[in-house]
Amino acid sequence: MLRYLTAGESHGPQLTAIIEGMPAGVPLLAEDINRELARRQQGYGRGDRMKIEKDQVEILSGVRWGETLASPVTLVVKNRDWENWSTKMSSLPEFRDESQAVTRPRPGHADLGGALKYGHRDLRNILERSSARETAVRVAVGAAAKALLQLFGIRVGGVVREVGGVVATDPAASFEDIWASAGQSPLFCCDGTAEQEMKRLIDDAKGSGDTLGGVVEVQVIGVPPGLGSHVQWDRKLDARLAMALMSIQAIKGVEVGIGFETARRPGSQVHDEIFRDAARVGADSGGAYYRTSNNAGGIEGGMSNGEAIILRAAMKPIPTLYKPLRSVDMLTHEPFQAAVERSDTCAVPAALVVAEAVVAVEIANAFLEKFGGDSIQEIGCNYEAYCQRIRTL
Ligand SMILES: Cc1cc2nc3c(=O)[nH]c(=O)nc-3n(C[C@H](O)[C@H](O)[C@H](O)COP(=O)(O)O)c2cc1C
Repeated sequence: MLRYLTAGESHGPQLTAIIEGMPAGVPLLAEDINRELARRQQGYGRGDRMKIEKDQVEILSGVRWGETLASPVTLVVKNRDWENWSTKMSSLPEFRDESQAVTRPRPGHADLGGALKYGHRDLRNILERSSARETAVRVAVGAAAKALLQLFGIRVGGVVREVGGVVATDPAASFEDIWASAGQSPLFCCDGTAEQEMKRLIDDAKGSGDTLGGVVEVQVIGVPPGLGSHVQWDRKLDARLAMALMSIQAIKGVEVGIGFETARRPGSQVHDEIFRDAARVGADSGGAYYRTSNNAGGIEGGMSNGEAIILRAAMKPIPTLYKPLRSVDMLTHEPFQAAVERSDTCAVPAALVVAEAVVAVEIANAFLEKFGGDSIQEIGCNYEAYCQRIRTL
């Protein structure tokens, strides 16, 4: 199984991830990971911190001469601004300075709940870890998962579907073409008209000190049928993907396929009819069976069904507003208007990159569960035998 942990504070010296369960023989270069890190830093509506960040990964273990060894992979993203934080975030007791304590919890953040739960009087002890800065190293982990999936023809991409209530539609094109077109857009959106309107809304929100959320859509192609399982609640692929997406900071809702729309339609307009064409064998991972619609988003009964996996995640507006929100100082118990730390107006494009990463990890995990082996060669043999078998069914 593929699993990972992340560690690190937003303004600490570095973010670290350790990935366990990566098989031997996956080609992995820092530049592949850096490409994804750069995508996370793009996007219309980001704040000044992006100018400092310029993330770069260091691969500290588990990879030799460009290939994974099957030992734990350690990925590190250094904080380029560490010298300005080295005393404030020092691990050494001699730098303790309570006069700098943050005592004003920001609505929409982990500040208040974390302070009450852990008994911290300085909210920095919470906000440093709850910050979405952590998503940088999760994107690095996702890049490693993408490298593994790519070896088996599985590709993960996506688009920004909504910003501030403006909905984008896709051109009728292949997913690869859609991703290529979204890659040219500062909002990862391939509907030019919607993009202009989204940019206008972001500019307006920035001007009035407000923030905007939106909806991202992750698409996974080339997924064979049979990842995940119906037999136990915690093995269901849709449940696992939903958890992965909901674990991203600011994600408040997840849909699989047409999601909430299924509740509004009769069954005849929801369920994807099943067809078989022997001539299709070998054309796609699904074998001879196919659908002419994909409302289920590629998952039925907790298992992939061979169609593209389609997931949407709703991101709430960034909670740190220049237009202050009311809160209460935890030291004085006096009301105040929540002040601003450096912040984004809209981080929906960045959230798309993070969403792709966590989905890639979960799909890779389910793939290894099904075809698991210690090396890419071994997994390849298992995968090929399965594909041969389902072609005959
Ligand atoms: C990519 C990304 C960037 C974010 N940037 C900011 C930001 O600049 N300022 C902010 O207040 N929140 C930002 N957030 C959201 C907060 O991290 C998140 O709302 C907060 O940690 C509370 O968690 P919750 O919304 O899941 O309850 C960002 C989230 C993501 C996914």
